[in-house]
Amino acid sequence: MDNIERILDWYLTAGVDEICADEPLHALNTKETTDTAQIPHVDNLAEGIIKVRPAVSNLSQINSAARNSADEICKKAQTLDDLRAMVEEFDGCSLKFSANSTVFGYGNPQAEVLIIGEAPGADEDRLGEPFVGRSGHLLDKMLMAINLRREDCYITNILPWRPPGNRTPTSEEVTVCLPFLQRQIELINPKIIFILGRSAANALLDNADSISALRGHFIDYTTSKGVVIPTLSSFHPAYLLRTASQKAKAWADLLRLKRKLNEL
Ligand code: URA
Repeated sequence: MDNIERILDWYLTAGVDEICADEPLHALNTKETTDTAQIPHVDNLAEGIIKVRPAVSNLSQINSAARNSADEICKKAQTLDDLRAMVEEFDGCSLKFSANSTVFGYGNPQAEVLIIGEAPGADEDRLGEPFVGRSGHLLDKMLMAINLRREDCYITNILPWRPPGNRTPTSEEVTVCLPFLQRQIELINPKIIFILGRSAANALLDNADSISALRGHFIDYTTSKGVVIPTLSSFHPAYLLRTASQKAKAWADLLRLKRKLNEL
């Protein structure tokens, strides 16, 4: 039993946190896995003799239960402190079990500018605060360049837990955790939302566009209460650290953000 737990833990740490079939396969039993008699013949499938059940049915039930529970929590949370405590108690996202910390938002609860990233990285997971590693240092400098300090803003992520190895969040993880972000937006009620990177933009704006197409444009986000808040997307600081040639575009986006903020 102890071994099984350790193997599962190893898989989880490596990022294998989804079940792809209803029945487990014995990975070491080569007879079972190579026995072609077990593979349905195409003709049989076409004649409807073999019924193919959709895989992951249990998993999608688990996900929708987790999403419902996240929605319920958000209805109850009347303050950011309530919400933080409830997110820390929430067990519906498996990322929590491979993470060291729940990284909730940080900053001014009455901020005019809300900044949204993707998910905590290793430094954030260690320290329990968003954007405190290399990307965070660049973000601080970007904000300073338009006379904003991180303490003036509110900084958060799509996910409050680090995906193992900093992999991109799965759509299931985003679906389960999105209500927490949406509730933070309602409670803070910022004048403008600055979105960093494609994952965060796609999750919040519910689209699949590239960051190159999204960046630099103001797109309205509407809360569940009908409040319309302009968003501006730009490159993620981690990408800018790797691709200095895009910094000029990021600078143009920061100036747009500042101008819009002055108008609002
Ligand atoms: N990258 C993010 O998207 N968020 C963080 O908090 C840190 C790095």
